[in-house]
Amino acid sequence: MRKIRINLLPGDGIGPEVVREGVNALRRLAELDGGVAFEFNELPGGCRYYLEHGRMMPDDGLRTLADCDAILLGAVGFPGVPDHVSLRELLLPIRVEFDQYVNLRPVRLLPGLTSPLRNDRIDFTVIRENSEGEYCGEGRFEPDDAGAVQLARFTRRGTERIIRYAFDYAVRHRLNRVLSATKSNALNYSMVFWDRVFAEVSTEFPGVAAEKMHIDALAGYFIMHPDRLQVVVADNLFGDILTDLGSAMLGSIGISPSGNLNPEGRFPSMFEPIHGSAPDIAGRGIANPLGTLWAVVMLLAHLGLDDWSERLMRAIEHALAAGTARTRDIGGSATTAQAAAAVITELERMA
Ligand code: NAI
Ligand code: MG
Repeated sequence: MRKIRINLLPGDGIGPEVVREGVNALRRLAELDGGVAFEFNELPGGCRYYLEHGRMMPDDGLRTLADCDAILLGAVGFPGVPDHVSLRELLLPIRVEFDQYVNLRPVRLLPGLTSPLRNDRIDFTVIRENSEGEYCGEGRFEPDDAGAVQLARFTRRGTERIIRYAFDYAVRHRLNRVLSATKSNALNYSMVFWDRVFAEVSTEFPGVAAEKMHIDALAGYFIMHPDRLQVVVADNLFGDILTDLGSAMLGSIGISPSGNLNPEGRFPSMFEPIHGSAPDIAGRGIANPLGTLWAVVMLLAHLGLDDWSERLMRAIEHALAAGTARTRDIGGSATTAQAAAAVITELERMA
């Protein structure tokens, strides 16, 4: 019996509502197949914790969180705690301390979903730098509220490894184009450097076409020509924005997953839906659980449970195509629990 320990950080708002469904799916897979025992450990942390204790997680939070095979996160942030506090004191420290420098985000229109775009051949991956860039947290407020400076830090190591990961990813998935998001016309240091490293690293991969596009043009390209995208590599800020856009191209932000990966396996990787805590619908049981279930698909693949990962993905696709897993955000009326149950039903049918 293989024992797998998963730390849960449900967080705020709809986070606990969707993480619950992810856990259910994992439990059901283990019941159906045997051979694996999941052990779940739910950790405190989030805005409610902050309001009680004055910090986003316990002092030894990161150490406790590190002790597992993988992490499943809901969402962090809620009115009452400034967003820069919740993000900077919980989510970003995890990504940085655990060296989860790859943020992997698939953007694929699943059967049964309707894209708002006319060109709906959408199947690509965004690889976002997840540990530095504009989100390094350095800067200052100037005296007398006269202004502010926000620093963006791009290290040689950080830039090289994310770009190399993107090319490696393309090779592993038999794709032949990597498109870099840049803005080296205006950002005359960071993006000039990024472009240089991109050009250098690309020479190691002669079989993959290396292309770059300024972020503003690229945003338009996402809308006009999504079918031409394969692998997009972007820094932290551009990648953040592009992937929300990517999810909107699938009809809802509630569908898309992401993996915060430490590819070397020195620290656990963390999987989450890309959406936030959705305070406007929290507590109503109507959040779309598919982003989290898709994140569980990625988690399973990361743990080497490829068969389970593929089966859960197929179950999501079948339930979507059958119309049984459609929450309000994607034009249906299923509750969170009903949509997740429809996916489980498909899993059972396949067993
Ligand atoms: P959001 O993603 O929470 O919500 C944006 C819109 O999408 C809302 O109308 C919401 O109802 C809808 N939505 C989101 N997830 C949904 C789901 N699963 N099903 C159906 N509808 C869904 O983004 P927003 O409003 O910018 O942020 C809310 C809070 O979440 C903030 O505190 C923010 O900092 C935090 N946040 C946290 C993230 C994380 O933990 N990774 C990511 C993004 C935001
Ligand atoms: Mg985002």
